[in-house]
Amino acid sequence: MIFYDEKSRIFTLETAHAAYQMRVDRYGFLRHLHFGEKLCGGSCEGLHTVGFMSFSPAAGEMGEDYVSSLDLAQLEYPVFGAGDYRSHCLSVVFADGARNPELVYASHRVIEEKPALEGLPALHGACETLEITLRDRWAELEVVLLYSVFEEYDAVARSARIVNRTGAPVKLDAALSVCLDLPESGFDLLHFHGRHAMERLVERTPLMHGKLCVDSVRGTSSHQQNPFVILCDHAATEESGRCWGVSLLYSGNFTACAEEDQAGTSRVTMGINPAGFEWRLEDGESFQTPEAALVFSAEGLGALSRRYHKLYRRNLCRGEWARKQRPVLINNWEATYFDFDDERLVRIAKAAGELGVEMLVVDDGWFGSRFDDKRALGDWIVNTEKVRGGMKSLADRVNALGMKLGLWFEPEMISEDSDLCRAHPDWFLHVPGRGYSRCRQQLVLDMSRREVRDAVHDMMAEVLSGANIAYVKWDMNRHLTDVWSADLPADRQGETAHRFVLGVYELLERMESEFPHVLFEGCSGGGGRFDAGMLYYYPQIWCSDNTDAVERLEIQYGTSFGYPVSAVGSHVSACPNHQTGRTTPFHTRGVVAMSGTFGYELDLAKLSDGEKEQVKEQVKRYHALYSLINDGDYYRLLDMTAQRELSAWEFAAEDGSRALLNIVYSHVRANFVPPVIHLRGLTPDASYRMTDDAGREVGVFTGAVLMRAGFRAPRAESSYPAGANDYPAFQYDLVRL
Ligand code: GLA
Repeated sequence: MIFYDEKSRIFTLETAHAAYQMRVDRYGFLRHLHFGEKLCGGSCEGLHTVGFMSFSPAAGEMGEDYVSSLDLAQLEYPVFGAGDYRSHCLSVVFADGARNPELVYASHRVIEEKPALEGLPALHGACETLEITLRDRWAELEVVLLYSVFEEYDAVARSARIVNRTGAPVKLDAALSVCLDLPESGFDLLHFHGRHAMERLVERTPLMHGKLCVDSVRGTSSHQQNPFVILCDHAATEESGRCWGVSLLYSGNFTACAEEDQAGTSRVTMGINPAGFEWRLEDGESFQTPEAALVFSAEGLGALSRRYHKLYRRNLCRGEWARKQRPVLINNWEATYFDFDDERLVRIAKAAGELGVEMLVVDDGWFGSRFDDKRALGDWIVNTEKVRGGMKSLADRVNALGMKLGLWFEPEMISEDSDLCRAHPDWFLHVPGRGYSRCRQQLVLDMSRREVRDAVHDMMAEVLSGANIAYVKWDMNRHLTDVWSADLPADRQGETAHRFVLGVYELLERMESEFPHVLFEGCSGGGGRFDAGMLYYYPQIWCSDNTDAVERLEIQYGTSFGYPVSAVGSHVSACPNHQTGRTTPFHTRGVVAMSGTFGYELDLAKLSDGEKEQVKEQVKRYHALYSLINDGDYYRLLDMTAQRELSAWEFAAEDGSRALLNIVYSHVRANFVPPVIHLRGLTPDASYRMTDDAGREVGVFTGAVLMRAGFRAPRAESSYPAGANDYPAFQYDLVRL
């Protein structure tokens, strides 16, 4: 619910367990008052005033009222140049060179819906939206702030639209999406860093005096940092403490900055990274920032994650596949790499189909002269030396086996050695007359150009309409360099990186609306573009190129803080694992991959009969558990940053009727005494039958016993010499009686 009190000029946004409050002060500035637990109709006005501090100026209209200084205020949309010296959301240069807008309240209205953002991903669904228009005191520059309230998830989606009506062009040097000012200090920042094949590792750092920034200037959200941060109480745990999530629905350069200031208040800002960014806004034009989803939890990190999971599953992912059961797939990448032909693919499909797998995905190498990773990106025409008879014939043969067929594309890329590059040597990002960087022997297409997008679209559409293709893996295997577009004049080159992202979004939108039945999966060298922006276009993303079950524990653990399991692409692969050389039990690989969109990525011909039986069992089990895993509540039961030996997580049906407990060892130690695990999400006074994954009954316990008293995780007997007992996994089903 959105309330406005005319007299006090206070806005209150109420959600199931939280309130967001702000007010227009007597000078017209929009001050943040509160985002946290409910206020039961009360207001925080005047309660957090810092008082006078030297060197904090009073803005023009304030006269000598230094106590009201913007430098000491909690603000909704701080600007550069007007007397607030902390990190800002907006930096604008007017035609006369002035850089000091004073944004004051102009008007507001409440809309009974969630507006879409043109060309950008956005949450959708039933909600109320508050639109507050601020205007520069001196020139007709407007900032329209949008607040959409998703009550059930304690979420507020925020973005800003900057409108130029000054009669002359203005230049934006920074246009971020969101600022969250809290009147206290003593918080930690959780962020999710990593590298290729080791994405979204959790790091928790106390805020400091000075800026703590995580960002990307790679042109994409990146493996190295994720556009999602959490601010929380020092003492916050999975189960307790206040937590604020800030998640950006954007897949390009971003920044998230957190700071504690001289007055002991804390600020987080997030949005498009100003590094390298400049946007010329002509008179009458507007600039829409990406959306940020803020979520609050006073019940710790676990509840915060579960709110994001539901919000993103229900109000971010779209289309037919957002809620529909996804097929169990087999991907040929780790089975064959580039060494395949149609016969080998059909053999894989046949063997997999017999074990219950539902779709074959032909990964990199089916097009142009793509015999290795040095050539042919951009030539999206089937290679009939490899796929003899063409794609339709392959699809028909695979379909005849009762399987669907999926294909890999890397639409944003071009190889120098490709027909596309020979025909259009100016289509990739580079500055004419200068050298350019290569990465994986490939270059990046200038997706900001319509003709480039049209050409890629036409090639892809021809393949997808020429055969029965049920799935597309949309990959992106390098980051941007030499960012310069032939379409833009010299003084607009700072727009290229953002226009690239808008171009990618446009192409995705176009492909998906033309092929609504196709399931799209995102990928960028594994999980290099695992962000909320992309989840608007495709409901699942290959989580990491690292398929080692033990390493995946940590990657999937980190991913779970901000993203639902239904988005996490996860496969059982061969051992010794191709990334780490580690051998883990087949069972363990299954348990880990099941906490995602399940599939296989190995040569089935090399499996023993016993392992093939396990594949059958795993597929059956995954189907039986599908709705519990994908729609259930996800609980992290152990803190992986502290407990190195094993991890434990649980899925519980929202109504408490069923649960699935997973325990996997990542480090087997001699005489190790495992911790007591406390289950979650059960009905305290109901009884549950607990069985292991071989169907053996462990016992009947009340929910209260399992949650409050807990039970000790099973021991992993270390084998000497090392063998099959290493890295064991345990799965338990709990059914309410
Ligand atoms: C990336 C992907 C892999 C695979 C290869 C193919 O690395 O993450 O899964 O598709 O590209 O080149």
